[in-house]
Amino acid sequence: MRRISVGEVELAFKDRGAGPVLLLVHGFPLDHSMWSEQIDALAIRCRVIAADLRGFGESAGPGGGDGAKTTMQQYADDLAGLLDALEIREPITFCGLSMGGYVAWQFWRHHRERLEKLILCDTRAASDTPEGAQGRLALAGTVLAEGSLPVADSMLPKLFAPRSLESNPPCVEATKRVMASTRPATIAAALRGMAERPDMTDELPNIELPALLLCGEHDVITPVAEMRDVAAAMPDSMFHVIYGAGHISPLERPERVNQLILDFL
Ligand code: MLT
Repeated sequence: MRRISVGEVELAFKDRGAGPVLLLVHGFPLDHSMWSEQIDALAIRCRVIAADLRGFGESAGPGGGDGAKTTMQQYADDLAGLLDALEIREPITFCGLSMGGYVAWQFWRHHRERLEKLILCDTRAASDTPEGAQGRLALAGTVLAEGSLPVADSMLPKLFAPRSLESNPPCVEATKRVMASTRPATIAAALRGMAERPDMTDELPNIELPALLLCGEHDVITPVAEMRDVAAAMPDSMFHVIYGAGHISPLERPERVNQLILDFL
């Protein structure tokens, strides 16, 4: 892992290959390792940067104590700062999964000139319902009181399709370890940030960049029908269902996801 200071935080990231930049941004509450099947496989065609968002994985932060919140824009600004620090000026392909997709929308909003293409995996454009947002705030309190393990336990069956849970125990266990070792303050801050993320639905027709949208067939967090509608609202998008996968399709069906990404690039 490389490390670099970006404003008040130090971000950790993997940096492989050369050429046009593909930035991989993980979901919640994960880290760059959810792209373990992509990093080297895609680095044959481009420069792959797989970052840990502030506080996640090996990145430091957030400061501000138990009440802190990290907005999706803050994560997007951090990533723009990372590109600055690496002196990457040419437009990049931003690939985000789930929360990484929420960050991608804010990257488009605030750093549009840095984008050439978008890849959105298992994510949504809508904001939370009021009940959903309330649930996240309550969960933030639980995590701070009880630690990260309850979140890891409750998320695991929702991340993977039943077949992946049965067929790949080492991968499932590794993912659980990442979630359980994520700092409670980081999880709580991200939950608060997600709870107030803006609704991007009305913006979708304005996102004119080439976009590839992927969704696992059995994704219960961001269902196929919803993502198909997101793709349909974007003027230059392609949508593929990843058959057999759940919410974390790049880990569950890496060959298929990698082929689609390489074709798109
Ligand atoms: C994720 O995978 O990043 C989360 O499930 C996103 C969410 O909770 O909305």
